[in-house]
Amino acid sequence: MFYRFVTLLLLLVVQSPGESVEIRNRWHAGGERWLGAGGEPLATLADPEQATWITKRSGNTIQLRHEASGKWLGVAEGKPVAESDPINPTAWTMEQVTEEWIRLSAPDTGTLHIENNTDVVECGPEVQADWLSAMWRLVEISSREVLPSPDGNARITFQLANGMPEYLVRYGDEWVISPSPLGFEFENAPPLAGPFQVISSKQNVIDETWNPVWGQRASIRNHGNELVVELEEISTTKRRLQIVFRAYDDGVAFRYFLPEQPNLKDFKITNELTSFRFTSDATAWWVEDLHDTYERDWNETPLSKASVEGMHTPATFLTKNETYVSIHEASLVDWASMTLKCPQPGNSDLELKAELVPWFQSNVKVIGTTPMHSPWRTIQLAERPGGLIESDLIQNLNEPSAIEDTSWIKPAKFMGIWWGMITEDWTWDRDNPGRHGATTERAKRYIDACVRHGIDALLIEGWCEGWEGGIPGWRNMNFTTPYPDFDIEEVCRYGREKGVSLIGHHETGGDIPNYEKQMEDGFALYEKLGIDRVKTGYVTGDIPVYTEGLTPDGREHHHGQFMVRHYQRVVEMAAKYHIMIDAHEPIKPTGLSRTWPNFVAREGARGGEFNHFVGNPPRHCTILPFTRLLGGPMDYTPGLFDCSADETKRFSTRANQLALYVVLWSPLQMAADNYQAYDGEPAAQFITNVPVGNWDETRVIDSSIGDYIVTARRKDSRWYLGAITNEEARQISIPLDFLEKGSTYDVVIYGDAPDADYATNPIAMAIHELSMNQGMTLDLDLRPGGGAAVEIYIHGDDVPKPSGTAGNITPSKPYRLLAKHSDQALTSNGADLSQTATPPTNSQLWIFEKSGEDTWKILQGDQVVEAIGSDNGTRVTLAAPTDSTGQLWKLEHISGTQFHVVNAASGKLLDVEAISFSNGAPIHLWERAWSPSQVWSLEPVEPTPVPAED
Ligand code: NOJ
Ligand code: CA
Repeated sequence: MFYRFVTLLLLLVVQSPGESVEIRNRWHAGGERWLGAGGEPLATLADPEQATWITKRSGNTIQLRHEASGKWLGVAEGKPVAESDPINPTAWTMEQVTEEWIRLSAPDTGTLHIENNTDVVECGPEVQADWLSAMWRLVEISSREVLPSPDGNARITFQLANGMPEYLVRYGDEWVISPSPLGFEFENAPPLAGPFQVISSKQNVIDETWNPVWGQRASIRNHGNELVVELEEISTTKRRLQIVFRAYDDGVAFRYFLPEQPNLKDFKITNELTSFRFTSDATAWWVEDLHDTYERDWNETPLSKASVEGMHTPATFLTKNETYVSIHEASLVDWASMTLKCPQPGNSDLELKAELVPWFQSNVKVIGTTPMHSPWRTIQLAERPGGLIESDLIQNLNEPSAIEDTSWIKPAKFMGIWWGMITEDWTWDRDNPGRHGATTERAKRYIDACVRHGIDALLIEGWCEGWEGGIPGWRNMNFTTPYPDFDIEEVCRYGREKGVSLIGHHETGGDIPNYEKQMEDGFALYEKLGIDRVKTGYVTGDIPVYTEGLTPDGREHHHGQFMVRHYQRVVEMAAKYHIMIDAHEPIKPTGLSRTWPNFVAREGARGGEFNHFVGNPPRHCTILPFTRLLGGPMDYTPGLFDCSADETKRFSTRANQLALYVVLWSPLQMAADNYQAYDGEPAAQFITNVPVGNWDETRVIDSSIGDYIVTARRKDSRWYLGAITNEEARQISIPLDFLEKGSTYDVVIYGDAPDADYATNPIAMAIHELSMNQGMTLDLDLRPGGGAAVEIYIHGDDVPKPSGTAGNITPSKPYRLLAKHSDQALTSNGADLSQTATPPTNSQLWIFEKSGEDTWKILQGDQVVEAIGSDNGTRVTLAAPTDSTGQLWKLEHISGTQFHVVNAASGKLLDVEAISFSNGAPIHLWERAWSPSQVWSLEPVEPTPVPAED
C-alpha cells in the first residue's frame, strides 16, 4: 500500500513536467511505426491512438511512461519491456542521428531497435548508426480531431505533430494512411507547413441528394461529415491556412484553402507537401506520368516497386488487410494535375508524395493569388473492388451544375468516319489523292448506316483545312473552313432529314494560341449548323503543347496549370454555344462534369485506337474501371467487330467488345468500326439496344482488378450486364438476385463461342436466349480475352432480338464489292478487273452462283472472274466460263458485309495491287496479308438494276 502510494506520488511528479509524445520508428516497411507498451516480447504498434507516452527528461536522458497502461519502458534480461511499478524506471540516453531522428539506448544493454522485418522491439550493442529501425522520433501531438464517416467505418484524423499538420486515415480496423504531412513550399517565401496553432475548428454534416444530368444512377446522395480547421503560423509571419476534411462512408478527402491575408497574396507553389504514407506494401495499379500523356499501359506492382518517375491518378491499391484504396483528386480547377511519386527507389517508407505537374521548365507548379482553393485530395475506400466504382465521392466533392438549362445536354451513341483514319486506310488530310476520309459522299453513307443501326450521331474527323503535314504538325487548323470535298451544310441537312446529328471535331494539334484565337468562331459555326457535340484533340506526339505568345517559354505540359485552365475555358465557351465536349488527350476527369455537365466524356487513357497502334492487352479493360474511370467517363471507342484485321494486334473477342458498352462507363459511346463490319450482324443488335448515359442504377456484381469484372446497369425495368476477362478463360456464375420477384425475364446472351479466343479466334460468338427469373443463376463462360454482353428484360417487353444474315450470300442477286481500304468498287472493262471510284454502274455489279460445296462463281453478264496462275501478282480477269478451278472462289466471312474472296485453285486472295487508292488500280491475287485491300464488302444492290453508264 505504502509503495503504491509512493509510486503514485512519483507518477504525479513525473507527469507534471512531462510532455505527451508518440514514439515513431523510422523503419516503415511493415507499417508499424509506433512504440507501444504491449506484446510479449515488446512490439511496435499499428495504432497511434494507443501509442502515447509521458516523458521525463534530464539532460540527454529520458524516462518514458506509457499513458494508457501506466507502464514504464525498461529492460529485463537484455530485452526491452514495459514494466509496471519499477523501483527505478530506465533512463534512456538520447543521441541525435539526423536532424529529425534519435537513437535511444539503455545503460549496459544497447540501442532500441526493431528486430529484422518483424514488429518485435529489441535492444542490442551491435546496432549501426544508419539502421532505420533504430531511429526514433518523439512527436508531441496536439489538436487531434477525428472525423468519422456517417457509418463510422471510415475516419480521417487531423493533428499537429510538433506543430506540423498531419492527417491519418483509418478504414474499419485498418490504419490505411499513417501520419502524412500537409502544406506547401513557395518560391521566394518560407514554406507554409508549420509550426501552426489551431485557431478554430468546426464540424458540419453534409446531406443532400442531387440528380445528375446523366449518370450511372438516377439520383446521388452526398452524405458526409466535414471538419474545417483554421491554422495560424506560430512564427511572426502569422500566415493562415485552412484545411477542409470530409469523411464519407466510401472514402475521405481534404482540400486546402489559402485565405486572403496580409502576408500571403500572390504566390507561386513549388511543392505541395501532401503525402500518402501507406501502412503496408499494397498492390498498386498505376500508369506512369510523363506530364504530357496518360496513354500508357497499366502496371500492377507492389507499392514499393512503383515508379519513382511518378504516376497519374486515379491510382488504385489493395492493402495487406484487403482494403481497396484509390487516390485521386476532385474538382481540379486552376491548379496543376496531381501525380504521385515514390520519394526514393525501393520506397521503404511506402510513401506516395503529391507531385504537381510543373510549368514548363520551371520549379513552379501553381501560380495564384489568395483567396484560393486547391482541388480535393481524395482517398476512396472499399471492402470490395466494385465498391470503388459504385462510389460517388469524386462527383460529390464538385460544385452543382453551373449550367441552368441543361435540357440540351444528352447522352448519345455515335459512329464515325474515324477507324479508317486510325488504321491508316483513309486520311484526315488531302495529301494523298483518293484517300481523304471526310467526303460528302461517305458522310451520307455513314448517316444511312447510323439510321440502320439506331445510332444517334456521326463523328466526322478531318473535315476542315489544316491537316496537311501529319503529327506533330497539325498546327494550322482552320476551324471554320471545310475542305472542298466536304459540303458541311449539305451533310448537316442530310443528317437532319434522317434524324442523325453530327459530332464536330476540333483537333488542335496542341497549338493552343491557334485554337484559342478561333474556338469561339468554331463553336458559333457549329451551333449555327445545329451541331451540338464537339470532339476536341490535343495530339502532339506526347510532347508539351505549343503556347507561343501566351507563356514565356512557348511550351507547356498537357497536365500543368496552364492547360487545366485551357480545358476549362473550352468547356465554358462550349456551354455558351450549347455544345457538349468530348476531349481527347484531355486533362484527367475529376468529377467536374457535375458542374459542367456539357463535358460529357473524354479519352485520357489508351482507348480502342491502341488496338491498331500496339494492341491493348486484354487485361487493360479489366483495370480501367478501377482506375482512370473512377474520375469520370471515358470515350474508349469500343465495338471493333473486325477484331482479327491483323493477327499481330489481337486484343479481345467480339463478345468482349460488346460487354465494354456496359463495363466502361460513358454517356457517349461510339460504335467504332466501319459500318460495313456491323451490317447484317446479329451481334450489332446489342449496340442498337444498349441504353447510353442515363442509367437508373449501376452495380458491380463481381470483380477482381486486372482479372475480370461483371457490371450490371438498369434502365427502367431492363438490365444490361457486361462481363469481361483478361487473357484467362473463366466461368462466372451470376446470382440474379437483383431482378424482381414474380416476373419472368427474357435473357439474351451475346457471348463467346466455346472456341473463341482473342489470339486465335476472336470473332466467334454464341448468341442465345434463355427464360429466367429472380433467384436463378446465370452462368457465363468467358473465353481468353473474352466476355459477354447480356440483356435482361421482362418477358413481353418489346426489345428487338438479335437477327441478321451476315455471312450469307444470296445467289442471283447483284452485289457491289467495295475494297475496304479505298471504298472503291470492283469493276470490269469486259476483260480486266480494277477498282473504280465511279458511282454505281452495271460494270460494278456481280452475281454469285454456287458451284461446288463451298465454292462460288462470280459472274458479270455471261462471263466469270478468273485467275490463271497462282503466283503473287497473278492478274484477275473476266473470261468465258470453263471447268477451270481458277474460276472458283471461296467466300470467307469476316464481319458484317466484309469477306475475303479466296481463289480455290491457289488459295490466294482477291487483292487491289499495291493497296492502291488510285481510281482504276488493277486487281490481282496475293497471299493472305491481313491487308484491307483484301477485304471486300459485299453490298447488295437494291433495287436492281443499277442505271448503266457505259
Ligand atoms: C487522337 C484521338 O484519340 C483520335 O480519336 C483522333 O482520331 C486523332 N487524335 C486525330 O484527332
Ligand atoms: Ca488519343
